[in-house]
Amino acid sequence: MDFNEIEATEGLRWVWNAWPTSRIDAARMVVPFGIMANVLMPLPDLPVLPYQPVRCKCQAVLNPYCNVDYTARIWGCPFCLQRNYFPGNYAGVSESNLPAELYPTYSTVEYVIPQKGFGGFPSVGSGFSLSGPPVPSNAPCFLFVVDTCVELEDLQALKLELQHLLAMIPESSRVGLISFGTMVNVHVLSHSGYSKALVFPGDRELTSQRIQELLGFSSKGGRMARQGSPNRFLLPASECDFEINSAIDELQPNAFNVQAGHRPRRATGAALAVAAGLMEGCAANVGSRIMLFVSGPVTIGPGIVVETDRSKSIRTHQDLVNDNAVHYKKSCKFYNQIGQALVENSHVLDIFACSLDQVGCAEAKSAVQSTGGLMVLAETFDSEQFKKSLRKLFEKDEEGKLKMCFNGTFEVTTTREVKINGAIGPCSSLKRKSTSVSETELGIGGTSAWKLCTLNSKTSIAVFFEVVAQNSSSITPGNPFFIQFATQYQHGNGETRLRVTTASRRWIEASQEQDAKAAFDQEAAAAVMAKYAAHKTENEETFDIVRWLDKNLIRVASKFGDYTKEDAQSFRLSSNFSLYPQFMYHLRRSQFLSVFNNSPDETAFFRLMLNREGVVGSLIMIQPTLFSYSFEGPPVPVLLDVSSITPERILLFDSYFYVVVHYGSTIAQWRKLGYHNDPAYESFKALLEAPVNDARAVMEDRVPVPRLVECDQHGSQARFLLAKLNPSVTHNSNAYGNVEVIFTDDVSLQVFIEHLQRLAVQS
Ligand SMILES: *[C@@H]1O[C@H](CO)[C@@H](O)[C@H](O)[C@H]1NC(C)=O
Ligand SMILES: *[C@@H]1O[C@H](CO)[C@@H](O)[C@H](O)[C@H]1NC(C)=O
Ligand SMILES: *[C@@H]1O[C@H](CO)[C@@H](O)[C@H](O)[C@H]1NC(C)=O
Ligand SMILES: [Zn+2]
Repeated sequence: MDFNEIEATEGLRWVWNAWPTSRIDAARMVVPFGIMANVLMPLPDLPVLPYQPVRCKCQAVLNPYCNVDYTARIWGCPFCLQRNYFPGNYAGVSESNLPAELYPTYSTVEYVIPQKGFGGFPSVGSGFSLSGPPVPSNAPCFLFVVDTCVELEDLQALKLELQHLLAMIPESSRVGLISFGTMVNVHVLSHSGYSKALVFPGDRELTSQRIQELLGFSSKGGRMARQGSPNRFLLPASECDFEINSAIDELQPNAFNVQAGHRPRRATGAALAVAAGLMEGCAANVGSRIMLFVSGPVTIGPGIVVETDRSKSIRTHQDLVNDNAVHYKKSCKFYNQIGQALVENSHVLDIFACSLDQVGCAEAKSAVQSTGGLMVLAETFDSEQFKKSLRKLFEKDEEGKLKMCFNGTFEVTTTREVKINGAIGPCSSLKRKSTSVSETELGIGGTSAWKLCTLNSKTSIAVFFEVVAQNSSSITPGNPFFIQFATQYQHGNGETRLRVTTASRRWIEASQEQDAKAAFDQEAAAAVMAKYAAHKTENEETFDIVRWLDKNLIRVASKFGDYTKEDAQSFRLSSNFSLYPQFMYHLRRSQFLSVFNNSPDETAFFRLMLNREGVVGSLIMIQPTLFSYSFEGPPVPVLLDVSSITPERILLFDSYFYVVVHYGSTIAQWRKLGYHNDPAYESFKALLEAPVNDARAVMEDRVPVPRLVECDQHGSQARFLLAKLNPSVTHNSNAYGNVEVIFTDDVSLQVFIEHLQRLAVQS
């Protein structure tokens, strides 16, 4: 089985598929012991078990690797080595009558945890209502937070889209609306006959408690508490359909006149604080989304990005580096706190930023990332990119249930010789100390469990480990060791589920280099290193991170390459390492490390997306794919190199965020002459259509939807492609004729590899 096939049974990709037996040997492996866990990966034949899992005293779940004594009805835990009695209902278990979770082939199973009481969910309030079935208490809430400092037409597009969304939201879900400009309005959705809102100031930072008092939730709130019930603001979609749709209808572009030379007064931060307070007050611990729709920078109050005065410009990367962004740190801190409060309540923050300006995603990133929320950057609310991304988020499965899951907990258990350094992904620490936790942190560390406020079939987490065994005498090479991943979550159908994957790999003798080489998954390694590098940008200078990557790569080449010392020509890498240097080359130049030509908001978005992607998606982000379409045959992959551009080819380029269809100059000319409309050139028509159809298929599978760029060779839009191609031919080399030239001082892949070989063979 190759690494992809193993992934299809476990949802895991291990950088190293066998680990050396001691701490010292492990340290010499250079690339960290990372595992990419696609926590809810759709697996064929996944057993779904309608009962509680059996757990050891150490909390590990019964699995096929446990030693079972059928006569004594005892099972031994492979993690803590304790022995446990089977519970009473397992009395009939025997070698010929195994429960599914003990089948050797079921290393992954999923439990449906039975609900307490009868009839499924407990209901909100009285539970008896003549107007319909009781509302499940864990049905998610969706709170729209809408910026009204928007041009009339764009606001109109947003309103239509929100109303469309309301029609897709399950009836039992509660919905609410906050609108903001200079002030923050919490819309009252009860049957009052006229629309009403509670107004909060936009320029002040209020505590969550104060917000809840003002909303009337606090028991100390006096009159407010008696007359108002939380249900005025957040109601089941089925009960407030009319009210919320009218409230959306009535939204108007912010009436406060914008002074000449000023930006609109936009209190996004205050609006989010009110939203978080509202949700904490009436949906604490109910997995829910706060969905922010914003079309410009925060200009007043907490979380400010830039003043209203247009003579002050929005912070750039340069300003951040030079500590010239006056509000940046304070605003980041504000969003951090919001993020923490959201995590504690299982709430998610999504940002839909539709603006030509930056809106402050760089500041707010931590709150989105730690809650697993979605960030979409588009230019207008009328754009396909915005509308499609939003609709995809609300896609339903075959049973008509939302594909989004909530309230996840991701737990890791290891054997004694292995400890957890940390995790990188759309999660936050649950601060759970266990014997599996290492003192050394990498990513979000110091814990063996993480919260995932929302998750879906693609959510991936990189988990980092270390071998702590001091010497090899305690473990025997060739023997297996185990790591267990357990993810509890709320399924789109309301069920609480627990997916458990128990993975087994073997210890190896470090001196057996062949074993180590065969165990290396270079794709997983590239994905893990990319996430690690992006994570480092939070505290380190990019320059240092690139140097760190380079040193690491040289050590990999020098340890795992085959060569004669001091002879660069003799250098070879075995097939399982052969692509790794080029992944690193592209990673160094990627938008995750190089901020050139990107705004802080864009950089934040790119890093946020990398943080949650699986191996395949991460690789496309690092090293985009390039296919050539021509009359010479079916589409073929071509080198990510400027020499791949030729006049008679159409190229399909996919960098995950952009999908570019690039027409060579001859093709573009034929198209301009309309040859494809001529029945005699049927095949030309087909050639033009194929890459566009393939581009659409790629885009279908992604949220947020990538931007599609169609361009001709030498056109200005071609920059999206050129920026990513290996500059094998630059203005420094002497190139003539029809070859495309890239203006850059970056080294080419070839120069980079030559350099690497020279350094690797040095002793
Ligand atoms: C959320 O998850 C936690 C931990 O897994 C659980 O204790 C809690 O009951 C869940 N909340 C809901 C509303 O299901
Ligand atoms: C190796 O480890 C075992 C237990 O982990 C210990 O008992 C033994 O003394 C160690 N041997 C050496 C040579 O350090
Ligand atoms: C590469 O890895 C595979 C496992 O996917 C292994 O079977 C193969 O032997 C390895 N190749 C080399 C050259 O080590
Ligand atoms: Zn145990």
